Parts: sequence; C-alpha cells; structure tokens
Amino acid sequence: MRLIFLGPPGAGKGTQAKLLTEAYGIPQLSTGDMLRAAVAEQSDVGKRAKAVMDAGQLVSDEIVNEIVSDKIDSPECAKGFILDGYPRTVPQAVALARILEAKGLKLDAVIELKVDENALVRRIENRVTETLAAGGKVRSDDNPEAVKKRLVEYREKTAPLSDHYASTGQLQTVDGMAPVETVTAEINRILASASAAA
Ligand code: AP5
Repeated sequence: MRLIFLGPPGAGKGTQAKLLTEAYGIPQLSTGDMLRAAVAEQSDVGKRAKAVMDAGQLVSDEIVNEIVSDKIDSPECAKGFILDGYPRTVPQAVALARILEAKGLKLDAVIELKVDENALVRRIENRVTETLAAGGKVRSDDNPEAVKKRLVEYREKTAPLSDHYASTGQLQTVDGMAPVETVTAEINRILASASAAA
C-alpha cells in the first residue's frame, strides 16, 4: 500500500499516518520528521533547512525529493509507505511521479484531510500544551508567527495539489473535522476499495 496524505498544518496527517503504520505494517514517511532529524543531527541538509523551517517556509523541492527517493529504496518501504507532508508543491508531485515510475511503483491512494482553518490554530496550540505537559520539546515552528506563515505557504503552494491530483483522478477527500476514529474509519474504507480495485 502506497499512499499520500494531503492537508494543511494540524489537519491530522501525522495522527492518521501513525495509526495506519500500526494497522498495515508500513512506515510513515514524514518529510517534516526527516528534516527535524537532520536539523537535530546538524547534517548539511539540517543546517540548510533549519532557518527555513523555523520561519514556516518550505524547504527546497530538490532537498525533499532526494530525501524521499532515497527513503523509498530502503528495505522498510518494500511493502509500501505513507507519505505525510510530501509532496507539498506541484513540482514535488511531478518529481514523485517520475521517481515512482523509475522504480516501477504505483500510488494506491491520495487522501486529502479537509479541515476548517480556525480549528487548525487551536489544534496546534493544543499540541503545544500537551507536549509541554508531557515534558517534551515543543517544535520550533509551533509558534503563532510560524504557524501563520505555514498556513500562507499551504494556501499558495500546497493547496493547488488538490486540483493536480483531481486532474489525475487520484484525489479522495475525507472530513478531517470529524473525530479521529471516524477519520480513520473513512480512510480504511478508501484503502479497502483501493485494494479491491488493484
Ligand atoms: P510537517 O512536519 O509536515 O508539518 P505540517 O504539515 O505543518 O503538519 P503538522 O505536523 O503540524 O500537522 P499534521 O497534519 O501532521 O497534524 P497532527 O496529526 O500532528 O512540516 C514542517 C515543516 O517542514 C514545513 O513547514 C516545512 O518547512 C518543512 N517541510 C516538510 N515537508 C516538506 C516538503 N515536502 N517540502 C518542503 N518543506 C517541507 O495533528 C495536529 C493536532 O491535532 C494534534 O494535537 C492531534 O492530536 C490533533 N488532531 C488530529 N486529528 C484530529 C481530529 N480529527 N480531531 C481533533 N484533533 C485532532
């Protein structure tokens, strides 16, 4: 099973990807997590990405395309993967199609989580509160200024992906405002019909 989750910051992409990872035994490929790991390691990519991420902007297509292409080649992705936060621009989607074609792989589903923008800011604030309560480290881009910029970046650069995948006939939308379990059930229904059609 190979799928993409689309949706703005706080839509629930990571939450649903983690649940599917457990259910299907395939990894979550979160470009955000991979970039945060690179920042923590202070690798070359991490050094280039840190300021861009902290400002709520998108890292270059070139960097993320390479990270994802390499990851797809790893043995843990042999049975499939869940792309969470990638692609995030139309050029990334075009690059992904080329990467998959070159590897002889196909996508099974592109699922967009539709959410009300007002709820997103509240969800991210809740995540900060929960992280602090658990003694964890808050993401450096989970502050009001960066969240505002992330939403602008989403509207300008990522939202056009819905039309892109609608035009390829691959887009499926799910109400991301529903409770987590309802969202999961709807995603499972989409994946079951994608498997049956394969
Ligand atoms: P990334 O890490 O991908 O962050 P994001 O897209 O901003 O998304 P979030 O992780 O904030 O939200 P989510 O949709 O996963 O929601 P979650 O499940 O946590 O990217 C960070 C940065 O990295 C980017 O800004 C960019 O700089 C860079 N980057 C990453 N990928 C890139 C790319 N491809 N190209 C260029 N740059 C890239 O849920 C949020 C909260 O809501 C949680 O507290 C959760 O418990 C709660 N919640 C979830 N679902 C529900 C529900 N149904 N009801 C109520 N609450 C819910």
